[in-house]
Amino acid sequence: MGLGVVIGAGATIVALLVRWLPPKASEERYGIDRVFWFVTAVSIAIFAFVRAVILSSVPKFRVRPDDDSDGPPIHGHTGIEIVWTAVPAVLVTAISVISGVVLVQNDRAGTGHMNVNVTARQFEWSFTYPGQGNLTSAQLYLPRGRSVELHLTALDVIHSFWVPEFGQKQDALPGQETKLVITPTKVGTYPVICTELCGLGHALMRTTAIVMTPPDFDKWLRQQKQALKAPPGQAGKTVFANNGCASCHALKAAAATGTVGPDLDKLPAYAKQAGKPLEAFVKESIVDPNAYVQPGFPKSVMPPFSTLPKDQLDALVKFLITSSKGGK
Ligand code: CUA
Repeated sequence: MGLGVVIGAGATIVALLVRWLPPKASEERYGIDRVFWFVTAVSIAIFAFVRAVILSSVPKFRVRPDDDSDGPPIHGHTGIEIVWTAVPAVLVTAISVISGVVLVQNDRAGTGHMNVNVTARQFEWSFTYPGQGNLTSAQLYLPRGRSVELHLTALDVIHSFWVPEFGQKQDALPGQETKLVITPTKVGTYPVICTELCGLGHALMRTTAIVMTPPDFDKWLRQQKQALKAPPGQAGKTVFANNGCASCHALKAAAATGTVGPDLDKLPAYAKQAGKPLEAFVKESIVDPNAYVQPGFPKSVMPPFSTLPKDQLDALVKFLITSSKGGK
């Protein structure tokens, strides 16, 4: 009894002192946390009850050293059976009702919300801003205090979008669009994590969500749109930077030094090796990277950038061609 009180007090202190969940950074997170703590409380109550019954049964019903007899036959107990069916039924119903209410509340984007298209593929995220000249980015930029409706799809297998600080998860499915509403409340940089086992690179399928003040966000949008309006060769440099190409590739013109993928300053030589005209080769390598993989580099590592809007794809191709030739 005394020991039980000590263990209980210790567990309570640990429960109260440890910050179990990441800080809240969206309005939707509050509802998700409510559901989380409700389910946790129910689980703790059931766990504690079952433990208590087991621990008190062990000394009470244990076999005495000289007792070789069988236990008494038991024919069940209607009363207890009704209780252990009814109580879980009520709890499970309560959990689904509370979750359903929160999901419906969280799904309301309200008027004046922004749309962002999210494309998931092995093993990258890509974000497109349809209201903003189809600006593309490998990071999710969001303004604080404005609802954003994410429209998610996947190009290959099922992925799942999750920013712990925002709370709710949503699957990204091939050939189908799912939605997720986020209303960021706090400026900061948060991890975007894939939470659906999607292949070998699943654990590395991460990017960042960057929440900015509305003026900073507008400034970022203006700069991006301006950069994309530049002549194709220059606009392509912005597309190159926005889509994270530099994390895997080297290219002098972009001061990129990645070594995971082929050195893009050598594109003309690679095209010759592949036996394809340079422009067609570069374009194909972006939208369908596995069509030709340069010997010495692993297959299926580069994700297809097939959702890149045409003008940005053309700008990127132009930039790559001119800068790789310029590097010669
Ligand atoms: Cu994508 Cu796991």
